[in-house]
Amino acid sequence: MSLDLVSTLPYDSITSLVRKAAYGLVTTCILGTAVYAGYRVALPEKHLIKRHRHPELNDQIEKVLDSLKISDEQLIHMMHILEEEMNAGLSPVTHKKASVKMFPTYVRNIPNGTEVGQVLALDLGGTNFRVLLIDLHGNSKIELTSKIFVIPQSTMIGDGKHLFRHLAECLEEFMQKENILNSGTCYPLGFTFSFPCQQESLASARLTAWTKGFSCSGVVNEDVVKLLQEAINEKGINAKCVSLVNDTVGTLMACAYKDPSTAIGLILGTGTNACYIESLDRVGTWNGDYNEPKQVIINTEWGAFGDNGRLKHLRTKYDEEIDISSINPGKQIFEKMISGMYMGEIVRLIILDLLQHELLFLGHRDTYSDYKAALYNRGGFYTKFVSTVETDEGIKFSNTRRVLEDIGIQNPTYDDCAIVQHICRQVSKRAARLAGAGLAVLINRIGKSNITAGVDGSLYRFHPRFKRNMERCMETLVNKDIKFKLTLSDDGSGKGAAMVACVAERIFEHDKETADYETLTKSLIN
Ligand code: BGC
Repeated sequence: MSLDLVSTLPYDSITSLVRKAAYGLVTTCILGTAVYAGYRVALPEKHLIKRHRHPELNDQIEKVLDSLKISDEQLIHMMHILEEEMNAGLSPVTHKKASVKMFPTYVRNIPNGTEVGQVLALDLGGTNFRVLLIDLHGNSKIELTSKIFVIPQSTMIGDGKHLFRHLAECLEEFMQKENILNSGTCYPLGFTFSFPCQQESLASARLTAWTKGFSCSGVVNEDVVKLLQEAINEKGINAKCVSLVNDTVGTLMACAYKDPSTAIGLILGTGTNACYIESLDRVGTWNGDYNEPKQVIINTEWGAFGDNGRLKHLRTKYDEEIDISSINPGKQIFEKMISGMYMGEIVRLIILDLLQHELLFLGHRDTYSDYKAALYNRGGFYTKFVSTVETDEGIKFSNTRRVLEDIGIQNPTYDDCAIVQHICRQVSKRAARLAGAGLAVLINRIGKSNITAGVDGSLYRFHPRFKRNMERCMETLVNKDIKFKLTLSDDGSGKGAAMVACVAERIFEHDKETADYETLTKSLIN
């Protein structure tokens, strides 16, 4: 048929047809090659790094970055160690010495959406401090107003009394703005205090150590609810702190409000930590009753995993350097390998190392002094830069270029950008895999067929591939008969704290005479 067609066509038309076909073929080939090249370029790390103009340098760069790679086998081994450490934290015999403290929170169950009331909440734990006014309407409806206040660096490391006075002043300013300061009502207040605390009840918690850049004097071993209430009373503010929760607990609560299969709260922000619902028969340190529900939320404080040296084999010289120059050397080892407070700094140290070995910014050797300031200074590469750099796909590197120019590298080359992106990817991927492995331990331990983890924190929220990297490694590490889901929690630190405070207050008011907070918390039951 086609031959017939050709034979009936004039010679010119045939030539033109052949030409067109050839042209089409060439175009397809060119396009195909271009698409493939684009695909290769857009592919993750390895392909990019291999395009370095000095191929012999690639191996040397890879060698430096090899120390960051953690295999699945190593992760599985780490999971065993974490499980042992968790059991040590839960046992009354070993708790005191344990690194992973596994604090019982006295919150015994999750909310069911019928909680009602108006409460204040204070959220202290990251870079900002927030005051919130929350209306729980029941029927899962929540209204919220809030204001962010800055905690000056000097306050973060100053006198503890001054810190709590500052919190009370912010509360007063907020209540004034909301016209509730002189309303004659005493407002119940939930305190989200995101530092390790040994709780003695829902409204009494002793700080065991500061983390994340805080180190105020006179607070460790003290009851922080008491310190807060004293500062509130000193100012004559009409508010009563009825509960204290960790941000992980708030996150679990807020997520469970919408999804009852939530059994874990995870924070990946300035710091990292997780809490989960544990059966009472596995909590040797539990000193409350064993009535229904036979469970309690455990604040693992997993950031301290490795403080006893058990993660030594996974740490790099960069991790060691970060630790030594931190305000809490030897503490929060797991956190320092994962969280936002340290991630940018790890990248900066690696960049510096490559630069000093003349493996990076080769065209800028004469202008070292121009960017010395940013790159040579602690904190000079922000963690948000890691997220920005990793949002670049393909070969343009527009974000990466901007970041590099920000830290003083003018007109970075393609290689400079590719290598810096490669470093960022390796550092954030390691963090995601470590966090994913930690989460897999909790999921396997809970062992239910459907488990949701509520997750919050700036690192998880803003990093373009953190969640994906976590899920990928968890697919291998979580028991095959368990379905798990990571859900971004909607402002758990505020709402979750409010839910706990609301229930605590309601029962407190109802039974003022005999109120004991342990009983109260059991009311967070359906
Ligand atoms: C604190 C935890 C907190 C976590 C996330 C850690 O440094 O010790 O209590 O949950 O940061 O904010």
